[in-house]
Amino acid sequence: MMYTVLLPAAGSGKRMGAGQNKLFLELRQIPILIHTLRVFEQDSKCKSIVLAVKKEEQTFIEQMLIKHHITKVVAITEGGAERQHSVYACLKSSPDQGIVLVHDAARPFIKQVVIHQLVQTAEESGAAVAAVRAKDTMKKVENGIIQETVDRESLWVIQTPQAFQYALLEKAERLADKDCFLGTDEAMLVERLGEQVHIVESTYDNVKMTTKEDLLLGEVILNKHKQ
Ligand code: CTP
Ligand code: MG
Repeated sequence: MMYTVLLPAAGSGKRMGAGQNKLFLELRQIPILIHTLRVFEQDSKCKSIVLAVKKEEQTFIEQMLIKHHITKVVAITEGGAERQHSVYACLKSSPDQGIVLVHDAARPFIKQVVIHQLVQTAEESGAAVAAVRAKDTMKKVENGIIQETVDRESLWVIQTPQAFQYALLEKAERLADKDCFLGTDEAMLVERLGEQVHIVESTYDNVKMTTKEDLLLGEVILNKHKQ
């Protein structure tokens, strides 16, 4: 099935500390935002792309899309103060009421095979998110003191993409908005409705470019993908 991708790109990149939106930083002379867009531009199952951007960055981003021959962006909407608001703004601009995929613009290394599995699972079951198994020993800590060791077998680290049937995500976003509930991802908003969210095993290289070290890692991952 075809899908639409919602890409929140309206952050400030504070933790990157680059003094600009981190999505404009380049890996191998290509902006991070373009690396991410190319994944969807090149995926024949991706019907359209909706972007949320900061108002003052819209013209710059539009020029970037032209320069790099990105043709699938059907709507550019103004992002909000929090990521969740930016995603909701994208959803409201989505031309497609089938499967929608939410993906951080700051995760440029997502693989098509994972995207397609997410879309299929969401189509069958409503909601699916990309995840990897926790690698380290995990403990619950309060005031610097370990309270308990959590069973790692049941722990997964959640990424994006997160795929949903449009009506389910729309309801989850609308109710969260009404209740002023702020989640850390879209799955959390759907979980709130008592609906099941499936996980699809992803890869550890689907990292989010968050701090300076991630850029070094990003260069290494790009080199590996090119081989
Ligand atoms: N994002 C957004 N609107 C916001 C905040 C974030 O569209 N109000 C986007 C970012 O552009 C990014 C994705 O959501 O593509 C994931 O967010 P994050 O990695 O936290 O990026 P930033 O918020 O830009 O970074 P920081 O939290 O370090 O400021
Ligand atoms: Mg942020």
